[in-house]
Amino acid sequence: MDAAFLDRAGDPPLATRPPATLPLAALYDRVRHHVPAIEWPALAEDIAAIQALKRARNAVVLAHNYQSPEIFHTVADIVGDSLALAREAARTDADVIVLAGVHFMAETAKILNPDKTVLIPDPAAGCSLADSITAADVRDLRRRYPGVPVVTYVNTSAAVKAGSDLCCTSGNAKAVVESLGAPRVLMIPDEYLARNVQAELPHIEILTWAGHCEVHERFTADDIREAREAYPGVTVLAHPECPPAVVAQADFAGSTAAMQDYVETRRPAQVVLITECAMADNLAIRNPDVAFVKPCNLCPHMKRITLGKIRRSLEELTHEVTVPDALIAPARRAVERMLAVRP
Ligand code: 13P
Ligand code: SF4
Repeated sequence: MDAAFLDRAGDPPLATRPPATLPLAALYDRVRHHVPAIEWPALAEDIAAIQALKRARNAVVLAHNYQSPEIFHTVADIVGDSLALAREAARTDADVIVLAGVHFMAETAKILNPDKTVLIPDPAAGCSLADSITAADVRDLRRRYPGVPVVTYVNTSAAVKAGSDLCCTSGNAKAVVESLGAPRVLMIPDEYLARNVQAELPHIEILTWAGHCEVHERFTADDIREAREAYPGVTVLAHPECPPAVVAQADFAGSTAAMQDYVETRRPAQVVLITECAMADNLAIRNPDVAFVKPCNLCPHMKRITLGKIRRSLEELTHEVTVPDALIAPARRAVERMLAVRP
């Protein structure tokens, strides 16, 4: 079942059936604006093979909102933001999970399912935030700030999660920090996410780290000013990994799922999503009446995942994601404490 499409009254017809049950021609209808007709036969062969392999292996494909439309709208069983993918990974009864996303997302799925086979189609799909901090850095912060709770963004390694009190995503960061009831919180490693949450929680002192998303740090307030000049009346939605000066100029800031909710409930005539480009591509397919305008930036890590690599991953059961036994329990505690917080 397609998680992002659950519990939504009034979905357009294309969302009501999971891709696995749709004929290939119907799948092409979904992605025809993104996939040239000449390229479709090769992709269709991969898609048919992936659907058969999923059945044979009792496998499920979890895809992040930044995956390209030909993955997101044809082979994904579950789509969503980091929080939704973590929640769905915790409850799937599949034997094999293929994570169409980046490495930390696959690690989170493994932490929640240590007995299942978790695969990532390209193990080099990393993240600049996850690379910005190590477990030794977290131990050092704890020594420098004894007693201060550590909230770690899910965009981190299992070792960093294991050294933290609890995790957060951009979808629940504010609620997670508030849930601690502490006057001072370490929120790592995304400096901008921490500063954006700090702006909403002035009564809490938030200490942070100098990690940045290489995609969102490139946006500037000028990008928004130019978009507003070029498209008068445009609605501007920004991801909270953007610098605070950018978020301050947006009409709304939220996780990728929150942006989807905004578009699908408020239905702006024209919108710019200050985030990764696939976000607008995937939403445009579901919302043909909304005009999506630039700018956007590509995440090179997300784009490492292709249909061909997903097929190979299922054929060869590669690349298996492993997490050392000693890290599973503490990392899982941090993730489960997060999942228990309701925004
Ligand atoms: P979301 O949790 O909002 O989907 O964001 C994940 C991410 O990596 C954004 O860059
Ligand atoms: Fe990491 Fe940024 Fe890519 Fe998200 S968009 S995976 S935070 S580099």
